[in-house]
Amino acid sequence: MEKMKKIIIEYPKKDVVIIIFNRPEKLNALNLETRKEISAAIDEIEEKARCLIFTGKGKAFAAGADINELSKRTSFDYLRISKWTTWLNHKIENLEIPVIAAINGYALGAGCELAMSCDIRIASDKAKFGLPELNLGIMPGAGGTQKLPRLVGVGMAKKLIFTGELIDAKEALKIGLVEEVVDHRRLMDRVLEIAEKISKKPPLAIKLAKKAINATRSMTLEEGLRYEVGLAALLFSTEDAREGLKAFLEKREPEFKGK
Ligand code: COA
Repeated sequence: MEKMKKIIIEYPKKDVVIIIFNRPEKLNALNLETRKEISAAIDEIEEKARCLIFTGKGKAFAAGADINELSKRTSFDYLRISKWTTWLNHKIENLEIPVIAAINGYALGAGCELAMSCDIRIASDKAKFGLPELNLGIMPGAGGTQKLPRLVGVGMAKKLIFTGELIDAKEALKIGLVEEVVDHRRLMDRVLEIAEKISKKPPLAIKLAKKAINATRSMTLEEGLRYEVGLAALLFSTEDAREGLKAFLEKREPEFKGK
């Protein structure tokens, strides 16, 4: 992988990769350079790993889009770079491997939008969340208005977006913005524990289960049920399904190969 400057890539366990946002002096504000590095990195990681983790260096996960860049942006710039904002988040959401956000601190604006594009969000008890774009005279524009209501409901999303208020991790858990809150010092241990569990599951089953769950965003229940039956049926032609079912009957641990 070519040398990255704004992100650090770590390989803490077999099949698990961590991308660390690395602009701590700017609270990991997501500038274009960082987003391009993330995009290039995930293309490679998707092929190599079974679980991806995002986290931030220092006291922030990511405190938003880079406001310096925003202050110079025109409407047409904004549309032109949506490939690196909205569509990068969409790409993260649709990666074939599960993605966990290990939210170590501020997850604001674009940082919160990126976290909402991950499959699972685990927060430190020091994390803070918000979509404060309206405070700057703009609005969430990398998925915030579409993803927040889907996670926390329309009324709560409007309250957070219209007021620009920040909430703490406890409140984020209560409204369903994160799945778990852990002691700050235990954040990475807990996230790695989950990632390791996921990485030992049959990768094709994970991939198809993720596709089926993501389809709930755009399909009716009946369409989704038809889609699920088709995907579930496909898995019966895999070696991993034979192995998983046989291992259970033989009272032993399965060995999944991703075939
Ligand atoms: N874009 C660019 N720079 C940012 C930034 C952002 N989104 N968020 C923080 N920074 C920079 C600050 O300008 C400061 O840089 P400086 O030391 O060169 O002046 C540095 O990061 C540290 O931030 P600071 O504001 O001093 O930290 P704090 O602990 O006092 O406050 C926040 C933390 C998160 C409350 C505050 O930084 C903030 O409100 N950030 C913007 C959040 C936001 O509106 N995000 C949505 C953007 S669309």
